[in-house]
Amino acid sequence: MSEDKVLKINKIGDGIVIDHISPGVSLDVLEVLKITGKEGMTVSLLMNVQSGKVGTKDIIKIEKKKLAKKDLDKISLVSPNATINVISNYEIREKFTVEIPQIVTGVIRCSNQNCVTNSKEPVQTLFQKEKSGDGEVFRCHYCDRTMSLPEVRKSIIR
Ligand code: CTP
Ligand code: ZN
Repeated sequence: MSEDKVLKINKIGDGIVIDHISPGVSLDVLEVLKITGKEGMTVSLLMNVQSGKVGTKDIIKIEKKKLAKKDLDKISLVSPNATINVISNYEIREKFTVEIPQIVTGVIRCSNQNCVTNSKEPVQTLFQKEKSGDGEVFRCHYCDRTMSLPEVRKSIIR
């Protein structure tokens, strides 16, 4: 492609690149990370760009950002194949794919309104991942309610 037709997104000096996000899902990733743009960090976002020979992906680059364990768990739930690149001084220091953990704590709300985790008691939610057919379900440790991945995505604590 000729130089004037190439869109270049700057490399970042320090921060994180969330790559291989499922196409069209980057706004959900920003939402669960509670990034609104008002924080002042430089954020680059690409939606539905070519990934490999076939298929598309989204990419988010956030300067001066660190991710906590709960952030990684939330990203894994909205986009299970996302890759995290940790950048410092323009170099990739770490690269890994997120993974939905076996035990998800403090990240999703239980859909059972009568669950103790939805009461005034200060109980952090705890779900165990289980295989179910060709997918996964998440079982509440407190009330035994199971939630599918699409349900879980809607009940991520924002
Ligand atoms: N990146 C960046 N700033 C840097 C280094 C890398 O924004 N200082 C971005 C690249 O633009 C790319 C992503 O981080 O979107 C991963 O970089 P790299 O590993 O070099 O690319 P690939 O080899 O294509 O990654 P993968 O193998 O994970 O597909
Ligand atoms: Zn429950």
